[in-house]
Amino acid sequence: SYEGTEITRAPVVTVMGHVDHGKTSLLDYIRRASVADAEAGGITQHIGAYHVETSAGNMVTFLDTPGHAAFTAMRARGAKATDVVILVVAADDGVMPQTIEAVQHSKAAGVPLVVAVNKIDKETADPERIRNELSQHEVISEEWGGDTPFVHVSAKKGTGLEELLEAVLLQSEMLELTAVPEAPGKGVVVESRLDRGRGPVATVLVQNGTLRKGDIVLAGLNYGRVRALIDENGKQTESAGPSIPVEILGLDGTPEAGDEFMVVKDEKKAREVALFRQGKYREVKLARQQK
Ligand code: GTP
Ligand code: NA
Ligand code: MG
Repeated sequence: SYEGTEITRAPVVTVMGHVDHGKTSLLDYIRRASVADAEAGGITQHIGAYHVETSAGNMVTFLDTPGHAAFTAMRARGAKATDVVILVVAADDGVMPQTIEAVQHSKAAGVPLVVAVNKIDKETADPERIRNELSQHEVISEEWGGDTPFVHVSAKKGTGLEELLEAVLLQSEMLELTAVPEAPGKGVVVESRLDRGRGPVATVLVQNGTLRKGDIVLAGLNYGRVRALIDENGKQTESAGPSIPVEILGLDGTPEAGDEFMVVKDEKKAREVALFRQGKYREVKLARQQK
């Protein structure tokens, strides 16, 4: 209902799978950075958000997720914020509990899957076993007459990554993803934390419109004027358009991952809505405690 031109937006792709199956390594290779090495113990503790331009000039936004069992809720929210899921399965390990969980979240959210059969460089890799095990969870590869692309990759050597990106882009083209950049920014909170120096910091994914420095934002139970926008490389930026992940400073607290955010015109109204939500939240919490 906003004035403005609809454009094709970049797909948002969430990388999921069992712990240590190579999700962060895969994204590292795609970004040519080295996040996996820098992580404490090589375990992803939060959702990382990045966007890249492919060699063909297509933009793709990636959300990394932890495979650890403790992060079920995060994966469920990740599946909702996404257009396509890359399911990473280590070919030397096979389908594991968090693999199955990721399949279930994707199906529940109605999000298409692309399976990355990773660690194909290993001698013990058995990709047929992965096809077989996933078929028992109704994920059937295209070769077997199903609709899920399976791509053999090695995040260590870079094998198959072009093909993986092509498969992801093909899936997302079928979704005909659009957005209106002129609209007020809205989207979803990916994660948030309290920074000692900077106060509440929320990583958000803009799904439609444009989020700008100075905007008044309502995010879950919180609100505030955006004091600074920081891109995924840690640089300050003036605005973030559709499918772009960005950190925002200036909220009065830390919204929950999965909360919706939106730009509103009136700071007073934003405050009222936030306070109303906080009050309701307290009521619900109290009622639960009294049970
Ligand atoms: P969590 O975030 O903790 O769930 O793990 P992850 O899925 O992000 O896995 P990560 O990228 O941390 O990789 C786990 C281990 O597997 C690391 O030691 C990687 O070096 C190794 N690894 C990842 N991909 C490959 C691959 O293609 N081949 C081989 N040989 N090793 C790989
Ligand atoms: Na890991
Ligand atoms: Mg990881």
